[in-house]
Order: sequence, then C-alpha cells, then structure tokens
Amino acid sequence: IPVDPFDLVIFGGTGDLARRKILPGLFRRFMAGQMPPEARIIGAARTDMDSAGYREMVAGAIDEFGGIDTPPADTLAAFLAQLEYVTIDAKGEAGWAELQDLMKGTGRVEAYYFSVAPSLFGDLAERLQHWGMADEDARIVVEKPFGRDLATAKALNGTLAKYFNEDQIYRIDHYLGKETVQNLMAVRFGNMLFEPLWNAQYVDHIQITVAETVGVGGRGEYYDKSGAMRDMVQNHLMQLLCLIAMEPPARFDPDAVRDEKLKVIRALDPVLPHHIMRGQYEAEAGQEAENPSYREAVGDPRSKTESFIALKTQISNWRWSGTPFYLRTGKRMAARSSEISVVFKETPHSIFGPDAGQHRNVLSIRLQPNEGITLGVTIKEPGPGGMRLIDVPLDMTFSEALGDDAEHVDAYERLIMDVIRGNQTLFMRGDEVEAAWAWTDPIIHGWEARGEVPKPYDSGSDGTTDSHELMRRDGREWRKVSL
Ligand code: BG6
Repeated sequence: IPVDPFDLVIFGGTGDLARRKILPGLFRRFMAGQMPPEARIIGAARTDMDSAGYREMVAGAIDEFGGIDTPPADTLAAFLAQLEYVTIDAKGEAGWAELQDLMKGTGRVEAYYFSVAPSLFGDLAERLQHWGMADEDARIVVEKPFGRDLATAKALNGTLAKYFNEDQIYRIDHYLGKETVQNLMAVRFGNMLFEPLWNAQYVDHIQITVAETVGVGGRGEYYDKSGAMRDMVQNHLMQLLCLIAMEPPARFDPDAVRDEKLKVIRALDPVLPHHIMRGQYEAEAGQEAENPSYREAVGDPRSKTESFIALKTQISNWRWSGTPFYLRTGKRMAARSSEISVVFKETPHSIFGPDAGQHRNVLSIRLQPNEGITLGVTIKEPGPGGMRLIDVPLDMTFSEALGDDAEHVDAYERLIMDVIRGNQTLFMRGDEVEAAWAWTDPIIHGWEARGEVPKPYDSGSDGTTDSHELMRRDGREWRKVSL
C-alpha cells in the first residue's frame, strides 16, 4: 500500500548514512510501489552541487549499496526524477530560502531527517523554525548518539523540545526496525504458548549476544570516544532487553509499548563492578596490517575504550526477580551473529533417572544472519537403547518457512515509511533514552574513577576470558557465537 505523498528532506543528504542506507532504502520502497509518484526527496548538505549532480550521486549509491542486481533503467530514472538538492549551511543563511520555497504549502507530509552530527541538531531545529518550516505536522528524524550521558541527552531533548513536540520527534534505533525484533513481539503476544512461561518461575536466565566481525575501521575517532557501552549497550541491547522483558502492552500503539519499555529500564538494578567485563581486540595473527589491534585502529596505544562488553543484570520486578539477564556485544568476534536466548529451567524432577540426562529448553531468536526462531525440545534418543534424552530443534528459519513470500525489508526502509505514516511505535521516546543513560552513567563513571583498563581478547574469538567466568561462576554458559 503506498504511503501518503510526502516531502522528505535529508540533511546530510550526501553523507555516509544517506548513501548507504537511507537513499537505497527509499529506492527499494519505490520499487515495491510504496512511494507515491508525487513524493519528493530533497537532499540538503554543505556540498556545492545541483539536483542533476545529486541524482547522479544517488544513482551511484544505489548501484553500490542498493543490493539490487540491475534495476530497470526506467524505474531508476523515475525514482531519480523525484529527487532535488539544495546546498545549505546548517548554521547560517545559505540555502534556507530555497528550501523554504520548495516546501511551501505543499499540503503533504513533511519530514526532516537529521543525518548529521548531533552537534548540529539544535542549529537545524532552530533554522527550521526560523524559516517557518517547523509547523506542527512536520516530523524530524534523529539518529543516535542521543548524547553521551544523561546530562547531554537531557540537554539535547531540551533543545529539540523548544521547537518540536515529542510526537514530532522520531529517534531512530535501527535495531527496532529489524524484522526479527518485531517478530519477538509477535511471538510473545500472538501465541498462547510462551507468555505463561515467560517469567522467573520458568526461565533460568536470558542471554543476548550481538557479535560483529567488523572492527572499528574508519570510525575510530567517533568510536574511541564512545566504546561498546555507549555505541551498542545503551541503545540497541537495551531495546532488545526491553522487548524481551516488558509486560504485555494493552495495545500495539506507540505510547502503550513505550510505557512498558520504560518500566523495564527503570526496574534495572545497577550493575556491580564484578558483573561487567570489558575487552579490546588484538590484531589478527598474521594479518596485522589489514586487521590491526583496537589500539592501533584508533591510533591511541593507551586507549581505555572497550570494543567488547559482557555484563549481568537483574530486573527488580515481580516477573523477573531472580532471573539474571546476560548481555554481550563486541567487534571482531568469531561471527556476525545476534541472538537472544531464553533458557528455561530444568524440569523439577526427572522420572527417567540420572542416566537419561536432563536438558533445558532454549528458545533462540536469531536477529542476523539466518533470521529465525528455534525452540530446543527434549525427546527420546531413537533406537533400542532405553530412555536417553536428547535435544532436537524445532526450527523456524524464516527464509525456509516462508520461502519467497518473505519480503526482505531493511530496518531503515521500514522505519522511514513509519515516519511518513506517523507511527512512532518503533522509535525511542525521550524519557526512554534518558532512563537508559541513567542506568549507563554510573557504570562508566565507575570505570573512570577506578582507572580500569579493558582486557585484551583475540580477534575472531568470542570475547574476553573473564566474560566466560561471569557465566561459569553462576553455573551457566554462553551459547556459542557461530553462524
Ligand atoms: C551501529 C553502531 O549503531 O550499529 C555500529 O554504531 C554497529 O558500531 C552497528 O556496527 C551494528 O548494526 P547492524 O545492523 O550491522 O547489526
């Protein structure tokens, strides 16, 4: 179904995110017939270029990052015809009259994507208002990082609130746009099977792993000021934790869902220093030049920033008290693999005796790759050998179960269409972001105060040795990081 006609202005329209994700994503939506022919996409950036030059740049980006073999030439031409470009100065006057002219009284959905450094968010918001483009139907889309701690996040929210209402602000966490993340809600709240068992009485623990094989690459300057805690845990892992742990919202609507997520964050216990481990990757043996160590990659031999985190936390409420949540994420790990596993308790008593073996059911939700859900079920080992128990997976790999019917929609594509539809369910509310920082801040302050240095881990491994200790001393194991 096509969305309503819209004008989408992309500030930073020549930047990395626009070229890699936003523009190719919009093209795929165009190909799927979701973008109406009256819609316009207006790139706005400092680079001096005209609309023809912009169309050429976008065609190049689609070719490089679109993931479409050879798009039909007329389809691509029709899409490019919907693009405009304005050279603009985010802090000054240049370009604003031209943009205002383009946006004048179109009566369409107006959205402004701030795909720029957060230090420019305030300037852009102010300029939009000054030029009369911040009317109450306008929407703005902002990218992380939303601050680097509670104080800066509050300041940022405060600045945006001067010009826009909360229901106009779309804070993107692209993990919420991933298909399986939404499926997590469908599985929990669309089935009778799981929800009655989804609590501390039946669940032994929950583990969330987001492992990446990439290093910090060319993003060293940004990354070294953030580290895995700010870059991944405060936002993406926190969102996954919320969706796994929240109470059923009364409706699948923006505030009902976000209210429940907020309650989870507020119920999180502070993390004890010995319940969190940090690591920095080492160079890959034999490939030191292509895959240098973290410290070399960021150009600081004494960097204390972590590229890996493992932690244990608890949610102090009736549902979860007593069930630990283990979270782990890192760069240059063994595989690109993101998985949430709900590990159920053992049966209270084995009628088959000690030799049969005892198993725990594990429900694994794989975000990437091979999106899907697997439930480990205990059955009898086939054959005449008596009653011995083994685990078999009830496997629902989406590509197999749904075949070609499963339309692949990238997180950004989905989220941008939600902005146009005016649906904030999959976007973070200001209070959620602040609550997440309120939990993160003391952890980071603790490291700083104690002068803690992350431990080294091998490239291609599954993290630091002490991250395994964290589990083992509780009699548990991380699930293997594998494809
Ligand atoms: C981004 C982080 O938000 O998410 C990156 O800044 C990280 O450091 C990326 O690599 C991971 O996203 P995805 O979709 O590839 O899992």
